[in-house]
Amino acid sequence: MPTPTKRIGVLTGGGDCPGLNAVIRAVAKSAIFDHGWEVMGIEDGFLGLIEDRLRPLAPCDVSGILTLGGTILGASNKADPARFPVGYNADGEPVFENRTQECLDTLARHDLDTIVVIGGDGTMTCANNFVEHGVNFVGVPKTIDNDLVGTDITFGFSTAVQTATEAIDRLHTTAMSHHRVMIVEVMGRNAGWIALHAGVASGSDVILLPEIEYDLATINDFVIERAKYGRRFSLICISEGAKPKGGKQVVNKIDPTSPDPIRLGGIGDQLAIDIERCTDIETRAVTLGHVIRGGSPVAADRVMATEFGHKAIELIADGETNRLVVVQGGVVTHAPLMASADKQRLVPLGDPTIAAARAVGTCFGDIPAHLPAPPHAGCKTTGACH
Ligand code: F6P
Repeated sequence: MPTPTKRIGVLTGGGDCPGLNAVIRAVAKSAIFDHGWEVMGIEDGFLGLIEDRLRPLAPCDVSGILTLGGTILGASNKADPARFPVGYNADGEPVFENRTQECLDTLARHDLDTIVVIGGDGTMTCANNFVEHGVNFVGVPKTIDNDLVGTDITFGFSTAVQTATEAIDRLHTTAMSHHRVMIVEVMGRNAGWIALHAGVASGSDVILLPEIEYDLATINDFVIERAKYGRRFSLICISEGAKPKGGKQVVNKIDPTSPDPIRLGGIGDQLAIDIERCTDIETRAVTLGHVIRGGSPVAADRVMATEFGHKAIELIADGETNRLVVVQGGVVTHAPLMASADKQRLVPLGDPTIAAARAVGTCFGDIPAHLPAPPHAGCKTTGACH
């Protein structure tokens, strides 16, 4: 067995996302099979570097994980080594310490050449703080939110959309049977990609995005008019970041120890109360929350994750470090490590998916939408069609 020429590390930071294990597998197998390198898995994101929790990853350790949700390495979205929360002071404010040196000691102890960091912009910012210390990184972007600048799409997004769509399809039957308005709230932070795509795929009657402030009266008129045309139910897909005109986003929790302190959530429940009060139509809300972050990645995410993991290893082999693997125009390529940091790729108002949805009668809560055609003579519709 020849002596490995390089030892690399791999970690998953931030929230989990379907496809993380597929990247870990591709990173480890490409490094071992193509180059004969050694691969160390770093546990719980940057926390594993602070606490020196690393384990070797052999091909057998990453075999059979392609289809698994979550991450076999564990993740942490609070372990920023430069600002590590260690408790609270007497005023209840969080106290932070800089644990960068412990990470540098761990890296030296394990003689790691380069770390593949799989994460969102917070994780890339953590990695970037080490670059001045001479540590090499290659970033692999992930998020179900699909809001990273510099890449056309992120793995995990398609799975989240699929799961949300299946959930809305199931709620459709209850909405129809009970002649209700059913509201489904989906994650996505300040970007409405998940709500837009799950909303269109499920034929939701109303789609509410953070990018388009809604007018309650427009939604109320729409569901009432639909009922007059025989559609005695309406499905509303709302993004957790959506808000009414002149209103504020609903914050579920503020966690000052997290690099991403604001947790959105609750707008669906609030909208349900508003619609029922104004229309007298029974209205229920369901929040899908983390359900759409779990489960097995869909085929497209497995493929993308495998390509991203392999590309990360190719970059290291070519001496291209402190780069971010991205897909641009359908081609897997690379950009600066910080290409996506501190920015968000929001849904543009001219997005073709919005135009297509409006054309088929979807209401975005801003302006009146096309109404369903009245049933024609002999029409067999039960009100189930859109
Ligand atoms: O960024 C992914 C995401 O799932 C967002 O859609 C959501 O707002 C947030 O993370 C939830 O974070 P947490 O898992 O820390 O509650």
